[in-house]
Amino acid sequence: MKPDAIVVGGGVIGCSIALRLAKAGLKVTVLERGRIGREASWAAAGMLAPQSETTGEEAIFDLSVRSRALYRGFVDEVRSISGIDPEYRGEGMLCVALNDEDASSFAVWPSAQRRLGLSAETLSADDTRRLESSVADSSLGGVFLPNDHQLDSRKLMDSLAAAIGKLGVEVVEGNEVSEIVREGNKVTGVSSAGECLHAGAVIVATGCWSSRLLSTAELEIDVIPARGQMLAVDGGGLRMERVLHSRRVYVVPRRDGRILIGATLEYEGYSRKVTAGAMNRLLSAAIELAPAIAGCEVVETWCGLRPDTPDHLPVIGPGPLENLFIATGHFRNGILLAPLTAEVITGMIVKGAIPDEIRPFGWERFTSA
Ligand code: FAD
Ligand code: GLY
Repeated sequence: MKPDAIVVGGGVIGCSIALRLAKAGLKVTVLERGRIGREASWAAAGMLAPQSETTGEEAIFDLSVRSRALYRGFVDEVRSISGIDPEYRGEGMLCVALNDEDASSFAVWPSAQRRLGLSAETLSADDTRRLESSVADSSLGGVFLPNDHQLDSRKLMDSLAAAIGKLGVEVVEGNEVSEIVREGNKVTGVSSAGECLHAGAVIVATGCWSSRLLSTAELEIDVIPARGQMLAVDGGGLRMERVLHSRRVYVVPRRDGRILIGATLEYEGYSRKVTAGAMNRLLSAAIELAPAIAGCEVVETWCGLRPDTPDHLPVIGPGPLENLFIATGHFRNGILLAPLTAEVITGMIVKGAIPDEIRPFGWERFTSA
């Protein structure tokens, strides 16, 4: 029987949409070129961090804070269906000043965020080290963000994959969609390996590979790969509870004792190289922030390709053809924005509702079909 919806792309965005559509009672198929959740969503640090990663002035800030507020409930839901724990951690994040320039930025953005009603506690150097003893003695102070949290994005992807399977979503891996199929102005399905698969709605959630597929629906949008390199060390008992940020690096402690260090932002096409220079810069910055990292064993290096757009904002909304929906370009915050994106796309498909606050993120801002 023809599905109500085909989701193309099994990253965090596609799987979250599939979950929400299935819970709304739709028959859903996910078509994934490789394996579910093994691209950008696998590479991610898993920070749910609108406050530490943005200044508060960005167009996406309000939606990011709203998505963060959905997260605990989203994780509880996914875990209770799948039985796999994405290891949500709510200890907060600590931004640390290591030089005068860092310190002077702390005089500005935390107060702007407080004016928006958000918690951002400015700390002295002593209080910063009292909160996180791993922070360098040379730190000039910090800002504690109690509501910026984190989870293990790989475990989230395993949990989401299992959850959608249990909800009856058909997941087809190793299946690359080559074309969006239409009759006049109406999308009727997709084409894959020469076969046409029909559906009531098609959702394009193909991350940094979205441009080519959308061009088959005569929509030209640049979604380009923005490489992020990362590494992990074995913390070896190093006490670190919170995510630490300096302006050059972030350091993310995981429950299993690993500490993630990230990330670069590079425009090198679809190259997946992990380079010596990037590892050097990330490690130097991490050791400057938390000197004990120098003694830790490096256990993994990797990179992922973030989906970026010309204005660095996502494209979320109905496409230029009937029954076509787009959810891509989530750049540095796709893990954070997944629950909100899924809710919004589901509302569009099930109720035909486009919330006013989503309209600025439509494809129309780039081009006309
Ligand atoms: P992807 O996860 O890339 O999934 C797209 C999927 O589509 C892929 O599985 C791909 O194989 C599939 N696909 C592509 N083309 C086709 C086709 N034609 N047919 C079928 N399938 C297809 N975000 C945060 O919120 N917090 C973080 O801390 C964070 N840290 C990051 C750190 C790094 C190093 C990187 C690289 C990213 C980070 N991000 C973070 C960003 C986040 O990972 C992305 O925004 C998010 O994963 C994008 O999800 P997606 O589902 O759109 O893309
Ligand atoms: N949000 C973290 C990153 O993209 O590196």
